Amino acid sequence: MVVAGRRNPPRSGGPAAGRLAAGTRRLVPGALRRDPQDRWAAVFGRIAGYSFAVAVVSGVLLLPFFRPSMATVVYHGSYSKLDGVPVSQAYRSVLAISFDVRGGLLIRQVHHWSADLFVAAICLRLLRVFFRGRFCGRALPDWLIWVTLLPLGMLATYTGTLLSDDGLSGGSLSVDTGVLLSVPVIGTHLVFAIFGGAPPGHQIIGRDYWVHILVLPALAGALLLASFRLPLRWPRRVRLDPLLPFTCAVLVLLGAIAQINPVWLIGPYQPGSISAGAAPDWYMGFLDGGLRLMPAWELSLAGHPLALGVLIAGLVPPGLFFTALALYAIADRRITGGRPPRGLLPPTPADPANRTAVGVAGVTLYGLLWAAAANDQIAYHLQIPLYTVTWIFRVLVLAGPALAFLFTRVICHALADRRRDEELHGWETGRIVRNSQGGYDEIREPAHRAAPPGADPPGPATARPIVEGGPMSWTGRA
Ligand code: HEM
Repeated sequence: MVVAGRRNPPRSGGPAAGRLAAGTRRLVPGALRRDPQDRWAAVFGRIAGYSFAVAVVSGVLLLPFFRPSMATVVYHGSYSKLDGVPVSQAYRSVLAISFDVRGGLLIRQVHHWSADLFVAAICLRLLRVFFRGRFCGRALPDWLIWVTLLPLGMLATYTGTLLSDDGLSGGSLSVDTGVLLSVPVIGTHLVFAIFGGAPPGHQIIGRDYWVHILVLPALAGALLLASFRLPLRWPRRVRLDPLLPFTCAVLVLLGAIAQINPVWLIGPYQPGSISAGAAPDWYMGFLDGGLRLMPAWELSLAGHPLALGVLIAGLVPPGLFFTALALYAIADRRITGGRPPRGLLPPTPADPANRTAVGVAGVTLYGLLWAAAANDQIAYHLQIPLYTVTWIFRVLVLAGPALAFLFTRVICHALADRRRDEELHGWETGRIVRNSQGGYDEIREPAHRAAPPGADPPGPATARPIVEGGPMSWTGRA
């Protein structure tokens, strides 16, 4: 006698998951099917590739109108609020692109949005591949390519935002100058070499221009070609990937309706003034946050000051972050405890508990540093003293990742235990039956297995445990 109703089967690998996967395949066909390893990683990779292509095309369209020069001119253009103000030629040309060139503002905004989407898609791809653990063996070169693409994409976007020579661009350059100057021994020489004299000098926009339009796009393009293994010859038959028009349409729509980097509101760069309330692009936030949180420690070494407050916060987080990302793939086996045995339920992100916990701790650290970049805004809007907010973030940045690691491990082990129980005894259907002794039993059905080549298909439904003492699902504890 069936007493209670039926429950849905568990998500992992069940028939429902199969139906969902088939549905998703139909929605985004070509792009998804090309990477048999991981469909979503392929989708994010392709979105990154297409937004890069849009950045290159829109960048080339901007070229005839942009002047990479810091020579001072007096502005007399359509934006009357800046009439008569001395500005650089670069800034004036960006105002002209925005107000006087037909479609110029749209192309500028599409260019900027495509850059932001490029970096976002790289991050999503890396996260997906990381939590799925698809970076070992033959996948390692691909992982390293995408890890390299992340700082390259950030640099490409950053060097682009410097070009307009507005208050934000100048402010970012001042921060860079401070960080470089804090490097012992070579710092000052480095700054003079990069700026061509005492900063800000008159050359940095011109130099940044070539790095932005040639060096970084060439490097990023080469890495993308290598990752997609695109043939250098034009293929005879080309099939249009639906993601391409989709990405372009989203970028044009964003460029048309969502304002980004309104340089006329920020004003031209003046060394003595800094814009309040303006924020860098989202992916630079974690570096800014680190600088804001670091105490102003300073040492004196043989009479030379060592500004640890800037040196550590400016160079250690990005250096550690990208090195750890690249090296993690090599350390993964040691951290997770080996490969999952074949023939068990397909692994989920919760399976190798240590890797998932490391990932969540990393994301927590990144998120906290990122939020700390808004400490002034948080203090202002919540009416809390700035130093209180800064101290709260300092504590959170130190304790948050460790707590996130511990909590995630506990949750992952609980999920893995449930999976192991389902694998040994079948999943709970929610159907309760009366047994011969007058008690109640719940009917369990066998868990769907990832069938290894030549393995038996899943057995029929049964009310008894299906594999007593059978194989355990992989928890990463082994
Ligand atoms: C051959 C390739 C490229 C060319 C010729 C190019 C050209 C330019 C030019 C002339 C500007 C200044 C115009 C302005 O500020 O409005 C600019 C700005 C910019 N570029 Fe590029 N670019 C290229 C690739 C890229 C890539 C690959 C990215 C990032 C992934 C990027 C991100 C940016 C950003 C964020 C800006 C600031 C836009 C703004 O003012 O809001 N560019 N680029």
